[in-house]
Amino acid sequence: MRILGIETSCDETAAAVVEETGETGRPWATRSNVIASQVPIHREWGGVVPELASRQHIRDICGVVDRALGDAGVSWTDLGAVAVTQGPGLVGSLLVGVSFAKAAAAAAGLPLVGVHHLAGHIESLVLENGELPLPSVVLVVSGGHTSLYLVERPGEYTLLSRTRDDAAGEAYDKVAKLLGLGYPGGPVIDRLAREGNDRAVALPTTRLTHADRNAPGLKGDLDFSFSGLKTAVLRYVTLRQEAGPLTAQEIADVCASFQRVVVNALVDRAFAAARRHGAKSIGVAGGVSANSRLRAEIKAHGDAREIPTFVPSLQLSTDNAAMIAAAGLRQFRAGRRAGLDLNAAACLPL
Ligand code: KG4
Ligand code: ZN
Repeated sequence: MRILGIETSCDETAAAVVEETGETGRPWATRSNVIASQVPIHREWGGVVPELASRQHIRDICGVVDRALGDAGVSWTDLGAVAVTQGPGLVGSLLVGVSFAKAAAAAAGLPLVGVHHLAGHIESLVLENGELPLPSVVLVVSGGHTSLYLVERPGEYTLLSRTRDDAAGEAYDKVAKLLGLGYPGGPVIDRLAREGNDRAVALPTTRLTHADRNAPGLKGDLDFSFSGLKTAVLRYVTLRQEAGPLTAQEIADVCASFQRVVVNALVDRAFAAARRHGAKSIGVAGGVSANSRLRAEIKAHGDAREIPTFVPSLQLSTDNAAMIAAAGLRQFRAGRRAGLDLNAAACLPL
């Protein structure tokens, strides 16, 4: 059984073909994974412009899907289903993928599966590593989300905590912008931080102890908060700039100091959650999981505590459709199908 996955939730138009292997250890294999990035278009504006994103998805979607089928060496008749990101994300962008998937499923007579974008990020770990030792604590850390999930059974995700304000990737993007480093901020800060002193700038760490009034069902002490950190960087840079522009070394120092605080918070909360829930593994997924310091620290902490840790390859860290196809296969096998009334949902709960 092969499935076509389609992802258009933000600024990447992506399509992929994933198939079942029949092996229990490693259930799925990627046959193709095509991504048309819109980064050069949005870079000019310093961030994603939703209207430009939707229009570019419309231009790219047919070619990207054709290419995914071609790379996989399959045609529509070789597929068993179509999976598409239903949400969360930019509604105009999501609508392009959802409309295309519905039309394609109807025309080819294939079943349709709606996928939650974050379930896709979580399943990217299974796609590459096989089923994780369960229970597993998975940190999903991207431009739009920073959340910890407990996975007790394959395909079931329980929210443990989340950010109260900015997502970690959003903090990277905003700090890069105020340092004049362009968009997206994660990769450039990651690179410059390697040359910087991570203790050069004293920045606050936030540790929440009380429940969030908006989420009384969660204890709240594993939540994240990055907006105070971003403001502290802004205040430091503004004050410092009164004496003239920052040198390249000072910019690297700010990057390294900022990154140390972000990564510490992510690693600290992930391992605290793992201890609390007796996790047998820890996973990190989403765009920020491409971060070199986060990858190194997760691995070092896991090795020291003898708990296996998993991060996706760089290609599957940021948005892609192979992860959507994988999550779609999981749902398809669980008997879940979407009708042709499937609608995009900007704020879809997992
Ligand atoms: O998962 P993703 O591609 O899209 C969303 O679902 O949001 O994540 C994009 C985010 C951006 O904020 C980007 O700055 C961040 O991931 N990112 C990184 C790195 N590479 C991408 N953040 C830190 N270090 C990186 N190396
Ligand atoms: Zn994402």
